[in-house]
Amino acid sequence: MAETINLDDVMVLEDMDPGGMLAAIESFSKQLLDALRLGRDQMDVPSSEGLKRIAFVGMGGSAIGGDILRSLLEDVAAMPVSVHRSYRLPSMFGSDTLAIFASYSGNTEETLSALDDAIYLGCSVMALTTGGMLLEKARGHRFPAIIIPEGLQPRAALGYLSLPAAAVMEKMGLLQGFVKVAYETADFMREKREDWGRLTPVGRNFAKQLAMRLQGKIPVIYGTEGMLSVAAYRWKCQFNENSKVPAFNHTLPEMNHNEIVGWYELDDLSRRVEVILLAEEGDTSRVARRVEVTAELLQDKVGGVTVIYVGGRTRTEKLFSAIHLGDFVSGYLALLNGVDPTPVESIALLKERMAQEQ
Ligand code: F6R
Repeated sequence: MAETINLDDVMVLEDMDPGGMLAAIESFSKQLLDALRLGRDQMDVPSSEGLKRIAFVGMGGSAIGGDILRSLLEDVAAMPVSVHRSYRLPSMFGSDTLAIFASYSGNTEETLSALDDAIYLGCSVMALTTGGMLLEKARGHRFPAIIIPEGLQPRAALGYLSLPAAAVMEKMGLLQGFVKVAYETADFMREKREDWGRLTPVGRNFAKQLAMRLQGKIPVIYGTEGMLSVAAYRWKCQFNENSKVPAFNHTLPEMNHNEIVGWYELDDLSRRVEVILLAEEGDTSRVARRVEVTAELLQDKVGGVTVIYVGGRTRTEKLFSAIHLGDFVSGYLALLNGVDPTPVESIALLKERMAQEQ
């Protein structure tokens, strides 16, 4: 492990990050604006007639955009929103279902298989992709497709894999006011970049400080139920893919009824873990109280506990800023671990092996 990395040495940060993952994270605010523009300019949109539900379909970095929209739109969308990471779709889906297929490459096996189900079931389909077979099939069936820019890792294209779909849903009359909030969120992310970006020194950069605390530990992230459980999952995946470390996540209050017991007895195991608790600033609910009590109980059991109170003027700002912080931490942790944050060789290997066996 490279322990001597100075996270304030911008030249070193650039050398160790040849794929530009941290630069991509820093441009998140701009990506959100571009993504909203893409959605706003999309002319070919599905009809909302007869729709009863919206289903996001995708895998990995392309699916989490669906989780974000599901958690943010739960109470404001005109119909239920669900997310599917599977080869199959529920057989009850039909012409009353808008199935939004998100795949950055457009070639993910599970997503393409689920697309066949959607076609068979007669769903209304929209694609969100850079190209590949997904775009080809969408064109063949004359399904609307939002084409997003190439050249990023899917997990670094989160803005493109979420907001254009919401903007189209607003055009279809399924939502109101979300796009305006999303534009404000993009501004807020610019402020956050000043707090957590590469040019801000460790002394006043919480993202760098947290990455340093996590070096040599296994991150375990707990988010409060709803949108911060989505953020906790994103943190876990970013630690896996960017920092190349094992990481795990769960949700409060549910973890209070099982997982908490696992940290209590075997000190050698538990001390290898840093617990991160994500809660909403100003939350006075019973769940928020559980965050405090959980932190107190785990303090002497695990290697460390960090409670993060996520701020923002809207739920959208809170969720995106929680995600943005985790992205930065995972990028810095990669460099502290001496690994390149961009490539994900094992995912590519697995896809190749599966493709050979078809
Ligand atoms: C890579 C990543 C992966 C991919 C996943 C699905 O950055 O995040 O989780 O997103 O393997 O591939 P796509 O997104 O091309 O459908």
